Amino acid sequence: MNNKATILVVDDEHGVRQSFNMVLKDEYHVLLASTGEKAINLFQENPIDLILLDILLPGIDGIDLLKKFKQTDPNTEIIMVTAVNDLQTAVKAIKLGAYEYIIKPFIVDDVLTVIGRALEKRRLVRQVAYLRNELERYHPFEKMVGKDKKMKNIFELISVVSQSDGTVLIQGESGTGKELIARAIHNLSPRKNQPFVLINCAAIPANLMESEIFGYNKGAFTGATSIRIGKLEIADKGTVFFDDIDSLDINMQAKLLRIIQEKEFQRLGDTRIIKVDVRFVAASNKDISDLISHGEFREDLFYRLNVFPIKLPPLRERSGDIPLFLNHFFKLYANKSGRPQKGVSQNALKVLMEYDWPGNIREIQNLVERLCTIKQDLVIRLKDITSFSISKKKITDGSLKEVVSSFEKQYIAEVLEMVDGNRKKASEKLDIHRNTLLAKIHEYDLNI
Ligand SMILES: Nc1ncnc2c1ncn2[C@@H]1O[C@H](COP(=O)(O)OP(=O)(O)OP(=O)(O)O)[C@@H](O)[C@H]1O
Ligand SMILES: [Mg+2]
Repeated sequence: MNNKATILVVDDEHGVRQSFNMVLKDEYHVLLASTGEKAINLFQENPIDLILLDILLPGIDGIDLLKKFKQTDPNTEIIMVTAVNDLQTAVKAIKLGAYEYIIKPFIVDDVLTVIGRALEKRRLVRQVAYLRNELERYHPFEKMVGKDKKMKNIFELISVVSQSDGTVLIQGESGTGKELIARAIHNLSPRKNQPFVLINCAAIPANLMESEIFGYNKGAFTGATSIRIGKLEIADKGTVFFDDIDSLDINMQAKLLRIIQEKEFQRLGDTRIIKVDVRFVAASNKDISDLISHGEFREDLFYRLNVFPIKLPPLRERSGDIPLFLNHFFKLYANKSGRPQKGVSQNALKVLMEYDWPGNIREIQNLVERLCTIKQDLVIRLKDITSFSISKKKITDGSLKEVVSSFEKQYIAEVLEMVDGNRKKASEKLDIHRNTLLAKIHEYDLNI
């Protein structure tokens, strides 16, 4: 394997090409070209990290080559080499995207230093691009699953809302996808390349909230030994997400209201006014109007936040999407682990679809993850999920008859799966007549 960076040297003078080759060949993979045409061919056929480019060349000159290379791959670093002390052309080259220029005759150490820096820059640029791509892969809009009518409406709403700067209040039970929606709004907005900053109001104690949001100057209070930038300042030009906003202390609520209105604040212990350009998104799993009526949430802040209200339905109100979610998470897990994708049997699916999922989508995600870790089979059966206390809707909900038949249905389905659908064995195990079993299978619409 060859991890050396590839450097293309373009110079019409044989002696110059050879001396670059001598200097570079130990550390780099070196390609040599005597004309612009040869350089273009080599550039097209090899992955080139850096080019040492003579300005004065017969035929296509260095500046035109520079433009061409930069157009094809803006990430290729180019260092101009010039014999004449032609500063003006060199400056022009820098404006066109060259990294640096060196003057012939060159000093070996200088050349090596400049090349080292240029390659380091290239590595960092690639790393940032890679990380950005990774981040997008983890929270992209397309990765959001939902065919249910209510969710489709929400997806539409998000694409519209993301184009404006209006505040958004996302409400929904725990695990319904509030944070995912907040990130999607940011990722679809013109602010997508700027920071998305999360402030978890439930996790930060009230007395630390101010310094968390506003930051502080050295000496602002005992213990403030150095300056600290607050989350609002970090979020400048981007989006700030106040998660669990209902937990925000009532004094901080007043301050937040002012910031949303004025878009300015001061660091603790500092008199300067800092202006910020941020978009506010907030989320809560509590009913805020209820909190308002108890005097625990400021009504004026609620109206400020609620410019675009988004109400996420609990999973039990979009149970038609349960197969979609199962498939989504089985697939995610398969990709993550490199193992084949699992699925659930029809009877197991029936029970999963009737279950009420108090933990919503996070619960379904956790279940899939656990099933994937401990079960070897590709098909997850009913007996595999019953041990996870997944059962039909709350047992306190129905009449005795309903509860009994729900249990009967599940038990028969389990036994059938255990004996691989063999009705004779099943009826023996259940100790009922085969015809009774057939009737029950029909009544409960069980698949074997
Ligand atoms: N529509 C969806 N498609 C795919 N994955 C989803 C969807 N909604 C939620 N999830 C996933 O479910 C999990 C829980 O979502 P999220 O953290 O956004 O919920 P939440 O409403 O913020 O929960 P909490 O109130 O507990 O903080 C996350 O892993 C998220 O990626
Ligand atoms: Mg959350």
